[in-house]
Amino acid sequence: MGVCPIRFTEWMAPTPTPPLKGRGFLVCRKDFMTNAKLASLMARGTDFLGCESAILCGAMSWVSERNLVAAISNAGAFGVIACGAMTPELLDREIAATKALTSKPFGVNLITMHPQLFDLIDVCAKHDVTHVVLAGGLPPKGSIEAIKGKGAKLICFAPALSLAKKLVRSGVDALVVEGMEAGGHIGPVSTSVLAQEILPDMAAQVPVFVAGGIGRGEAIAAYLEMGAAGVQLGTRFACATESVAHPNFKKAFFRASARDAIASVQIDPRLPVIPVRSLKNAGMENFTIKQREVANMLDEGAVDMMEAQLQIEHYWAGALRRAVVDGDVEGGSLMAGQSVGMVTKEEPVAEIIAQLMAQATDALERRAA
Ligand SMILES: Cc1cc2nc3c(=O)[nH]c(=O)nc-3n(C[C@H](O)[C@H](O)[C@H](O)COP(=O)(O)O)c2cc1C
Repeated sequence: MGVCPIRFTEWMAPTPTPPLKGRGFLVCRKDFMTNAKLASLMARGTDFLGCESAILCGAMSWVSERNLVAAISNAGAFGVIACGAMTPELLDREIAATKALTSKPFGVNLITMHPQLFDLIDVCAKHDVTHVVLAGGLPPKGSIEAIKGKGAKLICFAPALSLAKKLVRSGVDALVVEGMEAGGHIGPVSTSVLAQEILPDMAAQVPVFVAGGIGRGEAIAAYLEMGAAGVQLGTRFACATESVAHPNFKKAFFRASARDAIASVQIDPRLPVIPVRSLKNAGMENFTIKQREVANMLDEGAVDMMEAQLQIEHYWAGALRRAVVDGDVEGGSLMAGQSVGMVTKEEPVAEIIAQLMAQATDALERRAA
């Protein structure tokens, strides 16, 4: 049982990794081969991202700031800054601060409905950000050209096969396929179904990263074997030692199980609201009240649909901030995916990544045996 605890980077060393205490050479030699298998399954993803393990830490508003992003990239995976509602000036500062903490590549996640999206793209270009992730819907007109024209690679979320094809035809360089098990804003379809629908058609065309509900390396190995170039995890990293999330926020995660991470409910069919998965608390109930308020304003003509949806988004951004930054775990939003039950304690990012890689290696080894 178990694998030689060889760090993923070590197999890449030009000299053979020496056998570890208590393990015979032959066993370690076999692990070496299996690590090579994992590396080869991840090669497309690591080449695309420019890192050692094809694991993205998905952007998490208020959580994915300089410290967590730099720690993830320094540990050989790929960190992504969550721009959220930041102004261009704030994003400028956050990227500069992240660069001061890591020389490794990292990405920036921009929300398509941000009113200053094009200024934010300019800020990314100013800092030579290598990868931009566009979230929150189809890229607005001109944004793909603006991002790619400035030299960055563009990653978009594909919620269905037809949209995946459309995005790739439009010039998107890689896709994230995220199922409804994920924390934060979610679509209606599960990760396993999306992966089966999208990977067979799209994996040969562009790197596809699978996200949603991944908490262990066995699942990573499975999606890689299905053709994924890598994976994206959020919940598993939210409570890492390097995460600045408030201790109350982290404690709520450690106590929660999968069934506590529930999706918000749309109360008014006229107001399309993207569901959000978070731990159930008073903040989740307040969202129902907020939806009613916004729907009334829509009825009265006080706001148009765009403004109504922006108000809903601002509610989430504010509520998430209250939980992550202020530690208000009752009134704030505890966005979390169903993998939250696998988050049981604070651990350094490097250890989480090493565990995931070891579990993936172990799974591949068992299958090869
Ligand atoms: C607290 C939290 C905040 C998030 N904020 C964002 C965000 O600002 N932008 C975004 O594209 N995704 C956001 N996500 C989704 C993550 O980037 C990631 O895709 C997701 O967490 C992966 O699924 P998992 O939670 O099951 O690992 C958030 C997720 C969490 C848990």
